[in-house]
Amino acid sequence: MTQDEMKKAAAIKALDYIKADTIVGVGTGSTVNHFIDALATMKDNIVGAVSSSDASTERLIAHGIEVFDLNHVDGIDVYVDGADEVNPHMQMIKGGGAALTREKIVAAVAKSFVCIADNSKQVPILGRFPLPVEVIPMARSYVARELVKLGGDPVYRQGVVTDNGNVILDVHNLSIIDPKTLENSINALAGVVTNGLFANRGADVLIIGSADGAKIIK
Ligand code: A5P
Repeated sequence: MTQDEMKKAAAIKALDYIKADTIVGVGTGSTVNHFIDALATMKDNIVGAVSSSDASTERLIAHGIEVFDLNHVDGIDVYVDGADEVNPHMQMIKGGGAALTREKIVAAVAKSFVCIADNSKQVPILGRFPLPVEVIPMARSYVARELVKLGGDPVYRQGVVTDNGNVILDVHNLSIIDPKTLENSINALAGVVTNGLFANRGADVLIIGSADGAKIIK
């Protein structure tokens, strides 16, 4: 199985968690693209979706799945999204696709977070994947200096503007022993919108695609 086939296997398995007549929270990325394609097969049984990015919204609409404004829905039962890294506590680094802020908002609303990933995303300690931080443009240099004080090596993601009109700093060389504390510390910096650590709100279910198919880790 290729890495993409493993992503697809995990994505299809996530359909088991989608209940009829609900609004589904939808993440962003190549694994989620497989999930959106799979969700289309049951589009007549769901009310619609709330999306975490313009890219996912476009794909959902192309499949004929209605996309709702988060402010107009009562609640979300399940949020399905990928990850750049996931540790044994089901805490994640996300934001490789620059959609971290909207992802964090939709995840916060959802009763349950189902993370779908291929097995290359499993790590014992988070931090080998550079941690994305979404920053208000005028605060970029200040936040970068503060991230250095926290032990990281921030790199400006050139040419990328988020769906919210902000910029991304990717923080290299962090060994994240205490993900909850680091998530809070970075979010407390003036000018930071949010960072890609999903530690305080981790996944409730992890579905890992591997050569043997999709395995559910709770
Ligand atoms: C998007 O901003 C990210 O959080 C994605 O969920 C993450 O990068 C996983 O992407 P892939 O599914 O493409 O690996």
